[in-house]
Amino acid sequence: MQPDLIIVGAGLYGLTIAERVAEELGLRVVVIDRRSHIGGNAYSEIEPTTGIEVHRYGAHLFHTSNPSVWEYVNRFTKFTDYVHRVYANYRGEIYPLPINLGTINQFFRASHSPGSARELVVEQAAELGDGKPANLEEKAISLIGRPLYEAFVRDYTAKQWQTDPRELPAEIISRLPVRYNYDNRYFNDRFEGLPVDGYTAWFERMADHPLIEVRLDTDFFDESQSISKGKVVGRIPVVYTGPLDRYFEHGEGELAWRTLDFEQEVLPIKDFQGTPVMNYSDAGVRYTRIHEFRHFHPERTYTDDATVIVREFSRFATRDDEPYYPINSPVDRERLLRYRELAKAEDGVWFGGRLGTYQYLDMHMAIGAALSAFNNEIAPHFRG
Ligand code: FDA
Repeated sequence: MQPDLIIVGAGLYGLTIAERVAEELGLRVVVIDRRSHIGGNAYSEIEPTTGIEVHRYGAHLFHTSNPSVWEYVNRFTKFTDYVHRVYANYRGEIYPLPINLGTINQFFRASHSPGSARELVVEQAAELGDGKPANLEEKAISLIGRPLYEAFVRDYTAKQWQTDPRELPAEIISRLPVRYNYDNRYFNDRFEGLPVDGYTAWFERMADHPLIEVRLDTDFFDESQSISKGKVVGRIPVVYTGPLDRYFEHGEGELAWRTLDFEQEVLPIKDFQGTPVMNYSDAGVRYTRIHEFRHFHPERTYTDDATVIVREFSRFATRDDEPYYPINSPVDRERLLRYRELAKAEDGVWFGGRLGTYQYLDMHMAIGAALSAFNNEIAPHFRG
């Protein structure tokens, strides 16, 4: 039977629309994904030799201050009381992040009060005067001063971007958080946690509806499939969450992304680093950070005999890589405007999600955007 709506992409954006359309409107939905699993980039799987849950496309921590999103996600999963914290290894010494009074006092071998630490940072940040920062380095110095910038931002940023921060535009950063207290909670959000029985169980419950059919290993641009761009656009309404430039055959040029490479290793020890995430601030270490996945679930009884660590490397993406972070250069922004015009004119197709709108979205933002699109555009369209 013909579906009422086709959704391209079984990530959080696509799954949220699918669940709402099936449950709220009672319509038939087919969700396709070119990957062999649902959940998009938030997908996780159990490492088979250790039983430890690993996030395949980079660590995913759920956090939000939006009560509607929190209420919505709690329909499908309970969350643990996990609170995210990050540390940085700089020249063999471990510091808490984001930069806080503990970081400042350890770094300067001092015992500053909140007031005197603030005065110190303001004084160091004034080094370049009042002129407009010409690049990322100058911007960062104007926010936190040179010593903290050089230790915790410069080389880490250079590794992320494969570019000297003096050659990166100042606009890449608008703020660098410095806390003048000892709070090293990474997120400021009201709600935070990890799905108690894993991300996959959460996503399976979202898709578990008699009116939702999921077809995996199905690429929207593969015209040999029964559901493809050529066969459905103009006939059946579509929600498209794949890359925006790909939809229009890169006609306006490619939108640039950064990608990540992950090196996963199982070590025959219980605990490698004592914490979920360790950033590596030095230029001499090629990876940006190491995740140790057992620490995301201290409430679980994992094996004492092994642990899973993942080293993360950052680089510019080619067309065949997974797109992770939009680069958003002035050229990209110009192209994006042209693609947006094309998207607006594409009848019967809604573009959404991080790839379909070319923007970085946290999970709660993707879900929030999908709920808004459902309420404001998709439901009114079907209700007539
Ligand atoms: P998502 O990319 O998840 O889904 C899109 C789906 O479309 C994919 O499954 C893809 O295979 C499919 N698709 C694409 N083209 C297709 C085609 N032609 N045919 C069929 N299917 C196609 N957020 C957060 O809240 N906390 C965190 O800690 C993190 N951590 C994090 C780390 C890293 C490294 C990244 C890159 C991102 C995060 N995020 C995050 C963000 C999170 O990943 C993001 O919010 C969601 O993936 C957004 O869901 P979408 O559905 O928009 O995209």
